[in-house]
Amino acid sequence: MSALCRVPDDGDPPYLYPAYRSTVLRAPSRPLVMLPDRIADTTGPAFGDDRPDAGDADLTGQHAGEPLGQRIVVSGRLLDGDGRPIRSALVEIWQANAAGRYVHRVDQHPAPLDPNFTGAGRCLTDDDGRYRFVTIRPGAYPWQNHPNAWRPAHIHFSVFGRAFTDRLVTQMYFPGDPLFADDPIFQSVRDPAARERLVSALDWETTTPEWALGYRFDIVVGSRSATPMED
Ligand SMILES: [Fe+2]
Repeated sequence: MSALCRVPDDGDPPYLYPAYRSTVLRAPSRPLVMLPDRIADTTGPAFGDDRPDAGDADLTGQHAGEPLGQRIVVSGRLLDGDGRPIRSALVEIWQANAAGRYVHRVDQHPAPLDPNFTGAGRCLTDDDGRYRFVTIRPGAYPWQNHPNAWRPAHIHFSVFGRAFTDRLVTQMYFPGDPLFADDPIFQSVRDPAARERLVSALDWETTTPEWALGYRFDIVVGSRSATPMED
């Protein structure tokens, strides 16, 4: 089994959580069928034709000018259940801009797009399982789950194992967000301790004078203290 193989545990949100309306339509109504690993699943390319380069991890440097918003450094370690680093794993992020708008045709809420911000980045973990992104703090945005629904500011994370079939997806939040209590996605993680593992911490080690605040977000897979994942 690969490092990222896992089964859902109590810390993960349930497939069906009616307060999060989309789950009513997409949650499986029958027991899941476990597919055996096939050789093609674990030997296929994981990263596409080109490997990530250093620029892919700087979401503020992908266009001619700098994006609007508060520059931040988001970093952490990818660890297995025994606290060992997971090396050379592809970590991808995507997020809204500082105004809370995604570059996506479905996102039509009346906040401005930023011509200097796409909102997607990727990097590989190093030998200590570390990853690091430079980006801007995303804004909260409205969604149509229920009347006056607003998502807390968040960054989406995807972590690949050795193949496309080994992928875990979660969201990172910012400490002290007043929208937590009313967000059905955050609240669908029922264990308060597990919810806390989705919240990054202000990090003075990576906070850089006169330049950027740092936030730390460690991702743990395969243990009772794992980061909750969207399955
Ligand atoms: Fe989002």
